[in-house]
Formats: sequence, structure tokens, C-alpha cells
Amino acid sequence: MNSLVHDGDAVTIALESRADIAARDVLLDRSMAPNWKKKTSGKLRAGRKPAEGLAFVARDNRGEIVGTGRLWNIQAGIDAVGRPISALLLGPLAVDPDAKSKGTGSLLMRHALSEAARLGHGAVLLVGDAPYYARFGFTAEKTAALALPGPVERDRFLAIELAEGWLDGAAGMIVATGAKVSKPRKLRLVA
Ligand SMILES: CC(C)(COP(=O)(O)OP(=O)(O)OC[C@H]1O[C@@H](n2cnc3c(N)ncnc32)[C@H](O)[C@@H]1OP(=O)(O)O)[C@@H](O)C(=O)NCCC(=O)NCCS
Repeated sequence: MNSLVHDGDAVTIALESRADIAARDVLLDRSMAPNWKKKTSGKLRAGRKPAEGLAFVARDNRGEIVGTGRLWNIQAGIDAVGRPISALLLGPLAVDPDAKSKGTGSLLMRHALSEAARLGHGAVLLVGDAPYYARFGFTAEKTAALALPGPVERDRFLAIELAEGWLDGAAGMIVATGAKVSKPRKLRLVA
């Protein structure tokens, strides 16, 4: 399911396009705490592109963006025999303050998880409020031996497996592995 109707308002999930970026950033400024970019999980997104096919927007029936959710490629430490574990990091998940509590966040999350599974990913990690994310199956159980590149409250460092056992034995540092954003080329002035 990638759409819902709440009190006559329809919301639909779509892949984020370039044309959505400005409106998505306005939405993030409206909905997130002022320092959100400086949080530890932000370090894993900085300078990277979201995972292929896993950046979403929610639109209302006028086409306005009312929600955003993106997934990012990471390595979630190593397994018990030292093999790197590939996974995804979710964030930010945000819904316009005027459109909250209509199911949009849940719709975005369920769509993101189902697309991630369809594309063959094995696990999604995030830093967020456990009381909200528990409803989707996220727990702190599989992140106990994992570390983030900065401070984190352990009970907010959560994961869900999309393939059973994917995070078994996962230990070590979370590292960004996504494609880097290409920097604009500098023009050289020739005298
Ligand atoms: C968290 C957020 C994405 C939820 O979006 P939403 O569209 O309102 O979510 P839903 O409609 O699917 O769910 C609403 C329910 O979640 C609850 N909820 C929302 N945020 C919560 C939180 N931080 N902790 C616990 N419950 C929460 C609401 O009380 C509501 O409960 P109800 O169904 O019993 O009324 C949205 O509140 C938001 O953008 N918050 C600010 C940004 C943020 O903190 N993002 C998460 C960090 S990545």
C-alpha cells in the first residue's frame, strides 16, 4: 500500500525527485529540532546520496510534500567471522507539523521497509524514539554491540531485520558506504 485517506485527505508515497528537494528541505526545517543536522546519524549522511530507489516523499491531494523518509547505505559492523554486514540507515523521517497523526509517518515507514526488502536489503537501523518505532518492529536488541561515530543514547539506537538473522553477531562501527555526492567542478580562470 502506498496511499491512504484520512478524513477525506489522500496521501500518496512517491520516489523523491530532484524537483522535490527544495520543498523537502523546507519541510525538514519546519518539522525537525533546530540542531538535527549535527546529530550523530547526520554524520553518516553528510556528503552521501541516499540508497538507490529509497528516498521517498509523501504528497497530499494537492501535490504538496507533507512527509519525507530516506534510507542510506551503511556497513553495520562485522559478523562473528569478520564479514562486513551491509545495511541501511533510516532518517530523517519527518511529517509536516500541520499533517501529523494522520498515518503519514507510518505509511512512509511501511513503504520504505517494504521497498528496502524488495530491493534485497537485510536490515534497517535508525536513531529515534523507541515508543514510535517499536510499532514497526524496531528494537535495540540487535544494535547492542554496534557503535556510531558520535554520542547516542543506546535505547534510541534501533534496528529491524528484513531478512531473519541478518544482524546476528553484528559488532563494531557503523560506517557510511553510499555513493558520494559529486562536488560542483570549480571553474579555473585563465588570465
Ligand atoms: C515522528 C513523525 C514522523 C510521525 O509522523 P506522523 O505522520 O504523525 O505519524 P503517524 O500518524 O503514523 O503516527 C502518529 C502516532 O505516533 C505517535 N508519535 C509521534 N511521534 C512520536 C514519538 N516521538 N514517540 C512516540 N509516539 C509518537 C503519535 O502520538 C500518534 O499516536 P496515536 O496514533 O496513538 O495518535 C512526526 O511526528 C515527525 O515528523 N516528528 C518530528 C521529526 C522527528 O522527530 N522524526 C523522527 C526522527 S528521524
